Amino acid sequence: MTVKKIAILTSGGDAPGMNAAIRGVLGKGLYHGFEMLGVQNGFEGLINGEFIEMSSNDLIGVINQGGTILKTARSEGFKTVEGLSMAVAQIKKHGIDMVVVVGGDGSLQGAKKLASVGIGTALIPASIDNDIPGTEYCIGFDTALNTILEAVRKIQDTIASHSKVAIVEVMGRNSGHLALMSGMASGAEAILVPEIPTDMELICQSLVERSQQGKLYSIIIVAEGVGKGPDIAEEIAIRTKLAVHVTVLGYIQRGGCPSATDNIMGSKMGALAIDTILSGHINFLVALRKGNLLTVPYEVEDGFESGIEVRDYDLSMILGMG
Ligand code: ADP
Ligand code: F6P
Repeated sequence: MTVKKIAILTSGGDAPGMNAAIRGVLGKGLYHGFEMLGVQNGFEGLINGEFIEMSSNDLIGVINQGGTILKTARSEGFKTVEGLSMAVAQIKKHGIDMVVVVGGDGSLQGAKKLASVGIGTALIPASIDNDIPGTEYCIGFDTALNTILEAVRKIQDTIASHSKVAIVEVMGRNSGHLALMSGMASGAEAILVPEIPTDMELICQSLVERSQQGKLYSIIIVAEGVGKGPDIAEEIAIRTKLAVHVTVLGYIQRGGCPSATDNIMGSKMGALAIDTILSGHINFLVALRKGNLLTVPYEVEDGFESGIEVRDYDLSMILGMG
């Protein structure tokens, strides 16, 4: 199939660096003479035919903005048979040969669904959760991590001054990547992740011992997939009788100016998607594996694991609780 016209959309939770990916795809696509269209509001926009012509004028300065200039959505309609066929009808009506989707794990399922009905797609991984099987990196993770780190350092200043235990709930959906890496980077005393069972008795005992040893404050990072930070804070306060403060970081983690890493990854992944289309391929995931950027056809189920490393968790807990 010869691809002439490519549409790009962003889907699911926004992630810093999505704009760099849009710029990478559009800039490289225009350079190679493809006709490029933007789709607003993710798969919902496909259903509703929200297409916009895009030129290099639309790309000025966007790389330094968080969020996504194409806007995004979570579309329940696209998961239905009717929604999918409406989207396909819009794609055909506009003469689009290929849809590049920038998004997370759910968006990958959506891109595969389109591929299953004969529409060529590609998925550029972008999610602060860093939870797409098949790639060890998703655009947005590094920025979110650094945002959490900055917040935790500020929380540390104040809980150190007041001798408290800080519980910081971070995002990640069912993944512990953000919690584990932000906990390691900030030197948290304990980290709670959904992938590894938490021994609350041991953590509470250790908090009490630390306080008796004169270690007057502690930081505990809780992944949202484990439970609600306020509930965990209440349980720890009751068990330890220590002063506990809870912060739920929320959307602060998703917004903000992208880090250098996310803008570089977005640019390179976007460009690689176009190069792969140029070489005649459709229906692939752009991925980082063992430090290398590559593309993997959807049909290749090679079981590449991209979950958290247990040894990173063990190290963080040894250093934190010591
Ligand atoms: P993310 O891509 O960030 O993981 P979501 O899980 O919300 O975010 O998925 C984004 C969108 O992808 C959904 O709102 C839906 O439109 C689409 N999607 C998710 N799962 C499927 C599926 N199994 N089939 C079709 N579309 C899906
Ligand atoms: O997938 C990104 C993410 O921020 C998750 O970490 C979180 O669970 C979810 O999106 C929150 O989504 P919403 O936009 O619906 O609040």
